[in-house]
Amino acid sequence: MAFIAELKEMSLYFGGLKANHQVSLQLFPGKLYGLIGPNGAGKTTIFNVLTGVYAPSSGEVRFLGKSVAGLAPYKIARLGIGRTFQNIRLFKQLTVEANVMTAFFSQGESNLLDNLFASQRFKREEESSRKRAHELLKFMGLLNHAKDLAGSLPYGKQRKLEIARALGPAPKLLLLDEPAAGLNPTETRELTALIGKLQQEKNITVLLIEHDMRLVMDICEFIFVLDNGELIAKGKAQEIQQNPQVIAAYLGVDESEGEGE
Ligand SMILES: Nc1ncnc2c1ncn2[C@@H]1O[C@H](COP(=O)(O)OP(=O)(O)O)[C@@H](O)[C@H]1O
Ligand SMILES: [Mg+2]
Repeated sequence: MAFIAELKEMSLYFGGLKANHQVSLQLFPGKLYGLIGPNGAGKTTIFNVLTGVYAPSSGEVRFLGKSVAGLAPYKIARLGIGRTFQNIRLFKQLTVEANVMTAFFSQGESNLLDNLFASQRFKREEESSRKRAHELLKFMGLLNHAKDLAGSLPYGKQRKLEIARALGPAPKLLLLDEPAAGLNPTETRELTALIGKLQQEKNITVLLIEHDMRLVMDICEFIFVLDNGELIAKGKAQEIQQNPQVIAAYLGVDESEGEGE
């Protein structure tokens, strides 16, 4: 089976700082992957490289058999990579349904003039995108909030809304950056179940950055561990938990935190 996405010896330097160094990883379609590592390890940078926010300093980035290194973010999004952000980025003054609908508009056929004159075609498109938005909201358990302002939702539901919006363009690969950050244990359990469900029912490949180890160990079929920009381990949950290098990387973080850096 072919990889859906692949990094080959990918490095990204910010000046002298190696955010990612010679990272190689492969994702097979339809699986749920975890990406873990201490703060500053370079996890979010990998997402930024995969989504075209940064071009790698060297190495390869491939998606669906094609090199996408340095391709514009909107082009990569169209190819089928969706993401959420570590910090919530919603249009808080728009309704919940409108937040999801913004994800469709770039695909619509109406042009700006159509929109200005609120043409029939625009209205039809708006209705069909509202319908699609409602399907996604239903999937994420948010349909009863469709007309609420996004900013009025409790934090845990805003996190779910971000995922609903990322699902808008029907990505083949979904990158979730710390989706459970700031959630309480009940919300975390709900979100864990939803992520499992979307990977199974929608057959999406998911790469998940997460600090909640239970969440990661519970649902991820395969885990990559980064430390200091480098991939130090990969494997199934059990192998990772017993890997001495992984344990050391995490203990190292605890020590430095104790010393206040
Ligand atoms: N745009 C940037 N400019 C300079 N340094 C950056 C930039 N983005 C990230 N970094 C640095 O790269 C390293 C990895 O960051 P990041 O990928 O965000 O780590 P993680 O998500 O694992 O916490 C950090 O040292 C961070 O400060
Ligand atoms: Mg990060």
